[in-house]
Amino acid sequence: MSAGAVESRYLAALGLAQEAGALAMGYFTNRDRLAVSMKGAQDWLTAADGAVEEFIRGRIAEAFPDDGFMGEETGASGSAAEADNLWIVDPIDGTHNFARGHPLWCVSIGFVRRGRPEIGVIAAPAMGETYAARRGHGATRNGARIAVSEIEDFQRASIEVGWSTRRPAAAYQALVKAVMDEGAAAKRCGSGALGLAFVADGRSEGYLEMHINSWDVAAGLVIVTEAGGVTNAFFAGDALTKGNPVLAAPPALAGRLSEISGIAL
Ligand code: IPD
Ligand code: CA
Repeated sequence: MSAGAVESRYLAALGLAQEAGALAMGYFTNRDRLAVSMKGAQDWLTAADGAVEEFIRGRIAEAFPDDGFMGEETGASGSAAEADNLWIVDPIDGTHNFARGHPLWCVSIGFVRRGRPEIGVIAAPAMGETYAARRGHGATRNGARIAVSEIEDFQRASIEVGWSTRRPAAAYQALVKAVMDEGAAAKRCGSGALGLAFVADGRSEGYLEMHINSWDVAAGLVIVTEAGGVTNAFFAGDALTKGNPVLAAPPALAGRLSEISGIAL
Protein backbone atom coordinates (compact mmCIF):
# COMPACT_ATOMS: atom_id res chain seq x y z
CA MET A 1 0.00 0.00 0.00
CA SER A 2 1.38 3.43 -0.95
CA ALA A 3 2.15 6.08 1.64
CA GLY A 4 -0.64 8.17 0.10
CA ALA A 5 -3.17 5.38 0.58
CA VAL A 6 -2.22 5.05 4.25
CA GLU A 7 -2.36 8.84 4.63
CA SER A 8 -5.86 9.02 3.17
CA ARG A 9 -7.02 6.33 5.62
CA TYR A 10 -5.40 8.21 8.51
CA LEU A 11 -7.20 11.43 7.59
CA ALA A 12 -10.46 9.51 7.15
CA ALA A 13 -10.04 7.88 10.58
CA LEU A 14 -9.44 11.28 12.21
CA GLY A 15 -12.59 12.77 10.68
CA LEU A 16 -14.66 9.68 11.33
CA ALA A 17 -13.65 9.52 14.98
CA GLN A 18 -14.85 13.11 15.46
CA GLU A 19 -18.17 12.47 13.74
CA ALA A 20 -18.73 9.16 15.53
CA GLY A 21 -17.73 10.79 18.81
CA ALA A 22 -20.32 13.53 18.27
CA LEU A 23 -22.95 10.90 17.51
CA ALA A 24 -22.06 9.01 20.70
CA MET A 25 -22.10 12.25 22.71
CA GLY A 26 -25.69 12.79 21.59
CA TYR A 27 -26.64 9.53 23.29
CA PHE A 28 -24.40 10.21 26.30
CA THR A 29 -26.01 13.54 27.06
CA ASN A 30 -29.50 12.05 26.70
CA ARG A 31 -28.93 8.96 28.81
CA ASP A 32 -32.34 9.18 30.41
CA ARG A 33 -33.70 8.05 27.00
CA LEU A 34 -30.95 5.51 26.28
CA ALA A 35 -31.84 1.81 25.99
CA VAL A 36 -29.37 -0.14 28.16
CA SER A 37 -29.13 -3.94 28.42
CA MET A 38 -26.64 -6.56 29.57
CA LYS A 39 -24.82 -8.93 27.17
CA GLY A 40 -23.77 -10.93 30.24
CA ALA A 41 -22.53 -10.38 33.78
CA GLN A 42 -20.79 -6.98 33.98
CA ASP A 43 -21.02 -6.69 30.18
CA TRP A 44 -23.06 -3.63 29.23
CA LEU A 45 -24.68 -2.76 25.93
CA THR A 46 -26.45 0.45 24.94
CA ALA A 47 -28.34 1.46 21.83
CA ALA A 48 -25.46 3.84 21.12
CA ASP A 49 -22.96 0.98 20.58
CA GLY A 50 -24.85 -0.44 17.60
CA ALA A 51 -25.74 2.94 16.10
CA VAL A 52 -22.18 4.26 16.25
CA GLU A 53 -20.73 1.06 14.79
CA GLU A 54 -23.25 1.12 11.94
CA PHE A 55 -22.34 4.74 11.20
CA ILE A 56 -18.61 3.99 11.07
CA ARG A 57 -19.06 0.79 9.07
CA GLY A 58 -21.16 2.60 6.45
CA ARG A 59 -18.67 5.43 6.05
CA ILE A 60 -15.72 3.08 5.66
CA ALA A 61 -17.59 0.94 3.12
CA GLU A 62 -18.29 4.08 1.07
CA ALA A 63 -14.75 5.43 1.18
CA PHE A 64 -12.74 2.19 1.05
CA PRO A 65 -15.03 -0.50 -0.41
CA ASP A 66 -12.21 -3.04 -0.79
CA ASP A 67 -11.10 -2.85 2.85
CA GLY A 68 -12.31 -5.34 5.46
CA PHE A 69 -14.18 -4.26 8.56
CA MET A 70 -14.48 -5.80 11.98
CA GLY A 71 -16.47 -4.26 14.81
CA GLU A 72 -17.27 -5.27 18.36
CA GLU A 73 -21.02 -5.25 17.83
CA THR A 74 -21.43 -6.69 14.34
CA GLY A 75 -18.30 -8.82 13.98
CA ALA A 76 -16.48 -9.22 10.68
CA SER A 77 -18.18 -8.66 7.32
CA GLY A 78 -17.88 -11.86 5.22
CA SER A 79 -14.27 -12.99 5.09
CA ALA A 80 -13.25 -9.49 6.11
CA ALA A 81 -11.19 -10.75 9.01
CA GLU A 82 -8.82 -12.24 6.42
CA ALA A 83 -8.51 -8.98 4.47
CA ASP A 84 -5.01 -7.55 4.06
CA ASN A 85 -6.39 -4.11 4.89
CA LEU A 86 -8.66 -4.29 7.89
CA TRP A 87 -10.45 -1.67 9.96
CA ILE A 88 -11.04 -2.79 13.54
CA VAL A 89 -13.51 -0.67 15.46
CA ASP A 90 -14.88 -0.47 18.96
CA PRO A 91 -17.79 1.98 18.67
CA ILE A 92 -17.85 2.65 22.41
CA ASP A 93 -15.13 1.27 24.64
CA GLY A 94 -15.82 1.71 28.31
CA THR A 95 -19.52 1.00 27.80
CA HIS A 96 -20.02 0.53 31.55
CA ASN A 97 -18.74 4.08 32.17
CA PHE A 98 -20.77 5.43 29.23
CA ALA A 99 -24.01 3.87 30.47
CA ARG A 100 -23.50 5.33 33.92
CA GLY A 101 -22.56 8.88 32.99
CA HIS A 102 -18.81 8.59 33.60
CA PRO A 103 -16.81 10.48 30.93
CA LEU A 104 -14.08 7.86 30.55
CA TRP A 105 -15.18 6.15 27.34
CA CYS A 106 -14.14 6.43 23.73
CA VAL A 107 -14.61 5.56 20.08
CA SER A 108 -11.65 3.45 18.91
CA ILE A 109 -10.77 3.14 15.22
CA GLY A 110 -7.81 1.01 14.20
CA PHE A 111 -6.46 0.10 10.79
CA VAL A 112 -4.31 -3.01 10.57
CA ARG A 113 -2.43 -4.13 7.46
CA ARG A 114 -1.46 -7.81 7.27
CA GLY A 115 -1.63 -8.12 11.04
CA ARG A 116 0.43 -4.99 11.71
CA PRO A 117 -1.28 -1.98 13.33
CA GLU A 118 -0.82 1.03 11.03
CA ILE A 119 -3.29 3.65 12.20
CA GLY A 120 -5.02 4.31 15.51
CA VAL A 121 -7.47 7.05 16.46
CA ILE A 122 -9.19 7.12 19.83
CA ALA A 123 -11.72 9.90 20.45
CA ALA A 124 -12.91 10.51 24.01
CA PRO A 125 -15.39 13.33 23.42
CA ALA A 126 -16.69 13.55 26.99
CA MET A 127 -13.10 14.29 28.04
CA GLY A 128 -12.41 16.54 25.04
CA GLU A 129 -9.44 14.42 23.98
CA THR A 130 -8.44 12.63 20.79
CA TYR A 131 -5.39 10.40 20.46
CA ALA A 132 -3.99 9.56 17.05
CA ALA A 133 -1.01 7.77 15.53
CA ARG A 134 0.23 6.47 12.22
CA ARG A 135 3.10 4.02 12.13
CA GLY A 136 6.37 5.89 11.64
CA HIS A 137 4.88 9.33 12.30
CA GLY A 138 4.58 9.63 16.10
CA ALA A 139 1.54 9.88 18.34
CA THR A 140 -0.54 12.87 19.38
CA ARG A 141 -3.20 13.96 21.83
CA ASN A 142 -5.33 16.81 20.51
CA GLY A 143 -2.67 17.37 17.87
CA ALA A 144 0.28 17.71 20.28
CA ARG A 145 3.04 15.07 20.37
CA ILE A 146 2.93 12.65 23.30
CA ALA A 147 5.50 10.30 24.82
CA VAL A 148 5.45 7.51 27.38
CA SER A 149 6.39 8.15 31.01
CA GLU A 150 10.04 8.43 32.03
CA ILE A 151 9.40 6.94 35.47
CA GLU A 152 11.60 3.89 35.93
CA ASP A 153 10.82 3.18 39.57
CA PHE A 154 7.81 1.02 40.42
CA GLN A 155 7.45 2.89 43.73
CA ARG A 156 6.25 5.88 41.68
CA ALA A 157 4.46 3.97 38.94
CA SER A 158 0.74 3.54 38.23
CA ILE A 159 -0.14 0.36 36.37
CA GLU A 160 -3.61 -0.29 35.00
CA VAL A 161 -4.80 -3.87 35.22
CA GLY A 162 -7.76 -4.45 32.92
CA TRP A 163 -10.53 -6.79 33.94
CA SER A 164 -13.39 -8.70 32.43
CA THR A 165 -15.33 -11.83 33.37
CA ARG A 166 -13.62 -13.68 30.49
CA ARG A 167 -10.87 -14.75 32.90
CA PRO A 168 -11.24 -16.07 36.47
CA ALA A 169 -11.35 -13.52 39.29
CA ALA A 170 -8.45 -15.32 41.03
CA ALA A 171 -6.16 -14.71 38.04
CA TYR A 172 -7.01 -11.00 38.10
CA GLN A 173 -6.44 -10.79 41.84
CA ALA A 174 -3.06 -12.51 41.46
CA LEU A 175 -2.02 -10.04 38.77
CA VAL A 176 -3.05 -7.03 40.85
CA LYS A 177 -1.10 -8.51 43.78
CA ALA A 178 1.99 -9.01 41.60
CA VAL A 179 1.80 -5.38 40.44
CA MET A 180 1.37 -4.11 44.00
CA ASP A 181 4.18 -6.33 45.29
CA GLU A 182 6.50 -4.36 42.96
CA GLY A 183 5.44 -1.21 44.81
CA ALA A 184 3.26 0.15 41.99
CA ALA A 185 -0.23 1.60 42.35
CA ALA A 186 -2.75 -0.66 40.59
CA LYS A 187 -5.81 0.88 38.98
CA ARG A 188 -8.64 0.10 36.61
CA CYS A 189 -10.38 2.79 34.57
CA GLY A 190 -12.84 0.68 32.53
CA SER A 191 -11.70 1.27 28.95
CA GLY A 192 -8.90 -0.84 27.53
CA ALA A 193 -8.48 1.50 24.57
CA LEU A 194 -8.02 4.53 26.81
CA GLY A 195 -5.88 2.45 29.16
CA LEU A 196 -3.39 2.09 26.29
CA ALA A 197 -3.73 5.78 25.37
CA PHE A 198 -2.85 6.68 28.97
CA VAL A 199 0.35 4.64 28.70
CA ALA A 200 1.14 6.52 25.49
CA ASP A 201 0.81 9.95 27.10
CA GLY A 202 2.50 9.04 30.37
CA ARG A 203 -0.57 9.17 32.61
CA SER A 204 0.14 5.52 33.46
CA GLU A 205 3.31 3.47 33.42
CA GLY A 206 1.64 0.33 32.11
CA TYR A 207 -1.44 -1.55 30.98
CA LEU A 208 -1.89 -5.28 31.52
CA GLU A 209 -4.85 -7.52 30.83
CA MET A 210 -4.95 -11.32 30.69
CA HIS A 211 -7.43 -11.33 27.82
CA ILE A 212 -8.70 -8.52 25.64
CA ASN A 213 -10.30 -8.39 22.22
CA SER A 214 -8.75 -6.98 19.07
CA TRP A 215 -11.27 -4.12 18.78
CA ASP A 216 -10.29 -2.88 22.26
CA VAL A 217 -6.60 -2.54 21.36
CA ALA A 218 -6.20 -2.21 17.56
CA ALA A 219 -5.95 1.59 17.75
CA GLY A 220 -4.18 1.85 21.10
CA LEU A 221 -1.26 -0.46 20.27
CA VAL A 222 0.10 1.76 17.50
CA ILE A 223 -0.49 4.87 19.63
CA VAL A 224 1.68 3.32 22.38
CA THR A 225 4.52 2.25 20.08
CA GLU A 226 4.52 5.60 18.26
CA ALA A 227 4.80 7.30 21.67
CA GLY A 228 7.95 5.29 22.37
CA GLY A 229 6.36 2.44 24.33
CA VAL A 230 6.64 -1.31 24.08
CA THR A 231 3.77 -3.76 23.53
CA ASN A 232 3.53 -7.52 23.27
CA ALA A 233 2.96 -9.04 19.82
CA PHE A 234 -0.79 -8.89 20.36
CA PHE A 235 -1.83 -9.92 16.84
CA ALA A 236 0.03 -13.25 17.01
CA GLY A 237 -2.05 -16.38 16.44
CA ASP A 238 -5.80 -15.95 16.18
CA ALA A 239 -5.99 -12.78 18.32
CA LEU A 240 -7.97 -11.00 15.63
CA THR A 241 -11.07 -13.07 16.29
CA LYS A 242 -10.31 -14.61 19.70
CA GLY A 243 -8.28 -11.97 21.56
CA ASN A 244 -5.02 -12.31 23.48
CA PRO A 245 -3.29 -10.93 26.58
CA VAL A 246 -2.00 -7.39 26.26
CA LEU A 247 0.94 -5.57 27.80
CA ALA A 248 1.95 -1.96 27.12
CA ALA A 249 4.62 0.00 28.97
CA PRO A 250 7.61 2.31 28.64
CA PRO A 251 10.76 0.37 27.66
CA ALA A 252 12.30 0.62 31.15
CA LEU A 253 9.38 -1.19 32.81
CA ALA A 254 8.14 -3.55 30.12
CA GLY A 255 10.57 -6.38 30.90
CA ARG A 256 9.69 -6.60 34.58
CA LEU A 257 5.96 -6.32 33.83
CA SER A 258 6.35 -9.19 31.38
CA GLU A 259 8.09 -11.30 34.07
CA ILE A 260 5.48 -10.71 36.75
CA SER A 261 2.49 -11.07 34.43
CA GLY A 262 3.73 -13.96 32.30
CA ILE A 263 2.75 -11.97 29.17
CA ALA A 264 5.59 -12.56 26.71
CA LEU A 265 7.04 -9.55 24.89
C1 IPD B 1 -14.14 -3.64 27.86
C2 IPD B 1 -13.29 -2.51 28.37
C3 IPD B 1 -12.55 -2.96 29.61
C4 IPD B 1 -11.63 -4.12 29.32
C5 IPD B 1 -12.45 -5.27 28.75
C6 IPD B 1 -13.28 -4.82 27.55
P1 IPD B 1 -16.35 -2.61 26.66
O1 IPD B 1 -14.83 -3.26 26.67
O2 IPD B 1 -12.33 -2.13 27.42
O3 IPD B 1 -11.76 -1.91 30.12
O4 IPD B 1 -10.97 -4.50 30.50
O5 IPD B 1 -11.56 -6.31 28.39
O6 IPD B 1 -14.09 -5.90 27.14
O7 IPD B 1 -17.23 -3.68 27.20
O8 IPD B 1 -16.31 -1.40 27.51
O9 IPD B 1 -16.57 -2.32 25.21
CA1 CA C 1 -14.59 -2.69 24.19
